[in-house]
Amino acid sequence: MEGTQVLTTIKEIASHVGKEVKLGGWLYNKRSSGKIQFLQLRDGTGFIQGVLVKSQVAPEVWDAAKQLTQESSLYIWGTVREDERAPGGFELDVTNLEVIQVAEEYPIAKKEHGVDFLLDHRHLWIRSPRQRAILTIRAEIIKALQQYLNDEGFTLVDPPVLTPSSCEGTTNLFHTKYFDEDAYLTQSGQLYMEAAAMTLRKVYSFGPTFRAEKSKTRRHLIEFWMIEPEMAFVEHEESLKIQENMVAHVVRHVLDNCEAELKTLGRDISRLEKVTAPFPRITYDEAVELLHKEGFSDFEWGEDFGAPHETKIAESFEKPVFITHYPTEIKAFYMKPDPNRPEVVLCADLIAPEGYGEIIGGSQRIDDPELMRQRYEEHNLPKEAYQWYMDLRKYGSVPHSGFGLGLERTVAWICGLDHVRETIPFPRMLNRLYP
Ligand code: 4AD
Ligand code: MG
Repeated sequence: MEGTQVLTTIKEIASHVGKEVKLGGWLYNKRSSGKIQFLQLRDGTGFIQGVLVKSQVAPEVWDAAKQLTQESSLYIWGTVREDERAPGGFELDVTNLEVIQVAEEYPIAKKEHGVDFLLDHRHLWIRSPRQRAILTIRAEIIKALQQYLNDEGFTLVDPPVLTPSSCEGTTNLFHTKYFDEDAYLTQSGQLYMEAAAMTLRKVYSFGPTFRAEKSKTRRHLIEFWMIEPEMAFVEHEESLKIQENMVAHVVRHVLDNCEAELKTLGRDISRLEKVTAPFPRITYDEAVELLHKEGFSDFEWGEDFGAPHETKIAESFEKPVFITHYPTEIKAFYMKPDPNRPEVVLCADLIAPEGYGEIIGGSQRIDDPELMRQRYEEHNLPKEAYQWYMDLRKYGSVPHSGFGLGLERTVAWICGLDHVRETIPFPRMLNRLYP
């Protein structure tokens, strides 16, 4: 076998101009014009076109290229040539190739497929340029979130996935047996993060969470990932500042590092450029007033916002907007009432622009043991299961706050996708557990 045996990647091709390289990859498309074959290749790091001229390669190489089907795997040798017209700026003048496998007829053709078909073939669908772009941006968002929190002095703490009780209400718990006991997949690591904040002060978790939601909307997944910071000695207002700085940092990071991917997705970048801190804040009361003026005249104080309400509210702002001070009645048991007005809580939901809905839910937490005891009763929470959580209020209770950012909704927003199903490698949805 002729040529180098050292593998290069398409990502590094720029440093090999004029030289022969060996690539390992897949064929995703092919065009032929008699004496020339154009091979569209991908290698997991990028895309490049290989040009095969019949008169310049051995007959076996020409024939091997001819039998390549879509998604066939191969090693390929060629000389790197700079080409302004090529999408990546380079082309490969092919000198040799070795077929690893001629792929069977690929189910995902160039034609349009329905979304159910694509989801059934999600394990293959993720090879497409668009899905690669989304997965790349997802990873960059995670990196930026962790970078921000690490730089701000937060410590990563991992809460359990199997839990004996609920955090966000009992209606959407995933039940499982834990030997002879009942257990649930975690809905949120928050309660454990509160314990962790009392030893490390500023902490965050990042992991999968589960909600057995029977809702089939473009914002809901059964399994989704959340980043959950929790901070001792931080009160409501300061928590909002941390949230807006974190989100602004993430958007900036994606704009600076994912230009090509955003372009692949056709994202309107001007909308993202506007996302700088600080973000506007309105109270729940003001949001209700706004809705009354904007065609939701029968919305009553005390109701929770649905997707159409959130979208309408977001339309008034170019940046994400905090809605604060929701009615105590409709929020979780652990949220601290506003001391001046106990019928509302010191909480905020961050609503993304462009109709993407709530991306963060957070609040200051109740720190008074007496009030917490009262809440247990009102919410019918089994005292024994929450004993440890009560201990946090008995042994050196301090003011503290935290929030949870839903990764998939954030990815959907930043990528400009109309459904969260494309934001996670293998979505778990109502009626979908395969592949
Ligand atoms: O508002 P949620 O339910 O808040 C909590 O779980 C708090 N315990 C977090 C905390 O304070 N540590 O969920 C937080 C975020 C939502 O704003 C949303 O972005 C996302 O998680 N989320 C979902 N994402 C996809 N599918 C679902 N079914 C989601 N449910 C919530
Ligand atoms: Mg919420």
